[in-house]
Amino acid sequence: MTHTQPIGFIDSGVGGLTVVKEAIKQLPNESILYLGDTARCPYGPRPAEQVIDYTWQMTRFLLEKNIKMLVIACNTATAVALDEIKAALSIPVIGVILPGSRAAVKATSNHRIGVIGTAGTIKSHSYERALKAKSPQTTVISLACPKFVPIVESNQYHSSVAKKIVSETLRPLKNKKLDTVILGCTHYPLLKHMIQNELGSTIRLIDSGAETVGEVSTLLDYFDIAQQSDQDVIPTHEFYTTGSPKIFDEIANDWLDLPNISSNHIDLGGK
Ligand code: DGL
Repeated sequence: MTHTQPIGFIDSGVGGLTVVKEAIKQLPNESILYLGDTARCPYGPRPAEQVIDYTWQMTRFLLEKNIKMLVIACNTATAVALDEIKAALSIPVIGVILPGSRAAVKATSNHRIGVIGTAGTIKSHSYERALKAKSPQTTVISLACPKFVPIVESNQYHSSVAKKIVSETLRPLKNKKLDTVILGCTHYPLLKHMIQNELGSTIRLIDSGAETVGEVSTLLDYFDIAQQSDQDVIPTHEFYTTGSPKIFDEIANDWLDLPNISSNHIDLGGK
């Protein structure tokens, strides 16, 4: 393995770009390969077996491109596929649920933590398990927000419709005395301002994806595979989508501070 190989990021669509944004900031020397399975997004309502199958298809695509580490930048895929993929690969594999849980346990004062995510993530109880394993006295209140991902994928996350949906969806979390809420879906940071507005400024929002990048950085050092700035290599950023590159590029260019992102369409085959 060489230091110059890219780090691979996978998600069901554009959500993992929130993790990439943080990676570009915290790991500016690293080359990045991103794959979003936009054509089959959302993963949230799909059965676990199907999500595992799709996650493997994405993983194989990036392995062929010679990545040195895999970041499963999708909570829904992490919840059901991380253990299996981690056990099978010889490169380091990291998901987003443990880093988000660790950060929330650190942030809370009253041990009352909310988790918002896709139906698949909430149904898996992965956050609840991780939070309770770290801190048994924690009360966890979870809420599936199935309407959030379609708003983001259709590039409507700045709209008044988005604001209304966020407000209606989060109502059950109000007056629950939470001091911390985990954004347990990598699409949600694109709605972060609306979510914060709705829940109130005193609630601490944890961006699981952003927390994950800190741990990616630790792992790169631990395995001695970080790209050093004195190696004189210019980092590259390559984006692949199974859907329409047009909408993907609009969102990527709005969200990431990179010049002119132009993604490549790929076909993973089969539904
Ligand atoms: N971004 C994803 C997550 O973190 C998945 C959203 C979806 O496809 O439903 O869970």
